[in-house]
Amino acid sequence: MRNYNVGLIGATGMVGQRFITLLAEHPWFSLKVLAASSRSAGKTYREAVGEKWAMKTPLPEKIGDMIVKDAVADMKEIADSVDFVFCAVDMPSEEIIALEQGYAKLECPVVSNNKEHRYFDDVPMLIPECNSSHLAVIETQKKRLGTKRGFVAVKPNCSIQSYVPALHPLREYGLETVVACNYQAISGAGKTFETWPEMVDNLIPFIKGEEQKSEIEPMKIWGEVKNGVIVNAQKPVITTQCLRVPVSDGHTSAVFVKFAHKPEKEAILKAWADFKGEPQKLGLPSAPKQFLNYFEEDNRPQAKLDRDLEGGMAVSIGRLREDTFFDYKFVCLSHNTLRGAAGGGVLAAELLAAKGYFD
Ligand SMILES: NC(=O)c1ccc[n+]([C@@H]2O[C@H](COP(=O)([O-])OP(=O)(O)OC[C@H]3O[C@@H](n4cnc5c(N)ncnc54)[C@H](OP(=O)(O)O)[C@@H]3O)[C@@H](O)[C@H]2O)c1
Repeated sequence: MRNYNVGLIGATGMVGQRFITLLAEHPWFSLKVLAASSRSAGKTYREAVGEKWAMKTPLPEKIGDMIVKDAVADMKEIADSVDFVFCAVDMPSEEIIALEQGYAKLECPVVSNNKEHRYFDDVPMLIPECNSSHLAVIETQKKRLGTKRGFVAVKPNCSIQSYVPALHPLREYGLETVVACNYQAISGAGKTFETWPEMVDNLIPFIKGEEQKSEIEPMKIWGEVKNGVIVNAQKPVITTQCLRVPVSDGHTSAVFVKFAHKPEKEAILKAWADFKGEPQKLGLPSAPKQFLNYFEEDNRPQAKLDRDLEGGMAVSIGRLREDTFFDYKFVCLSHNTLRGAAGGGVLAAELLAAKGYFD
């Protein structure tokens, strides 16, 4: 695989920092440009991120010395100097759309962690193991944008990235109804216990906009490409509740599911054990070898013990059992800033690179 020069927009944020830890030694991607707001521009990354560095590993020396660019004012210079950019910013929605389309129209592909482009029917929203076929809509998007190589690809919300993968290989039994109660870590709000001390010994039963995303986004992931665009799936009917819990990293979901054709428990366990997506088949550098991991122990998965499985890119599942109202219930976990954010973005970019979309 050839090497690609990469820019990181939103480099000083929580997700941006995760990208830095993942890209510092990446075999295919070389981090050439760091960008953030005008508040950070012109400073070294070390000065700009300052006390906000929240990663457990130290800031890589050579990254700390890089001068941060202004993602908006320096757009043309950045777009001209890299093969593609990752984007994870906190800005008003209309400014994010303008920013991402701005880079795409300058022929610089964008792999985005932001929500703003998720519901465009010609923008692939990737969990690479589940819907790599959606890359086909990029050609339609390029026609809309009037570009030759520029486009936007996104990853879905972190809240869906345990139960959608777990349900994905079970679709052959006809997913009818799904309830998912999501217990979400504070890093999903860009926070730590230091910056959000109110979350110690607490639970907040509301995360703005999260339940809508958790119910709508799976329907796009399970949608089909028709006439060059993604047409959302109609089934299953999904309802969710999203609660903020005092956990630093790792979103857990308690799932209830009803099928059109109820499988045996052994068939579900086998479907999880055997499942391989395109990243496993292609051997992408960030792909977990075993994506779906079932734990027999009654007290697993646990956020603290299991969120870092396979570099935080695997999904952990446990407690599969029959239910009185539904057919089955189970619990699943994924790392929200790795699989659910930066790691998922890197894996999506590896898929795009392997399929030639950055050439
Ligand atoms: N945290 C998660 O687990 C998670 C998961 C999935 C998706 N996301 C999404 O990822 C995005 C970033 O989240 P986050 O938690 O990393 O946010 P964050 O920690 O608040 O970081 C925001 C970043 O945006 C930059 N920024 C703000 N205003 C800007 C402007 N006008 N121009 C250019 N850059 C600007 C900031 O730069 P300065 O430092 O210069 O202000 C900073 O780098 C959001 O859309 C979020 O919804 C987050």
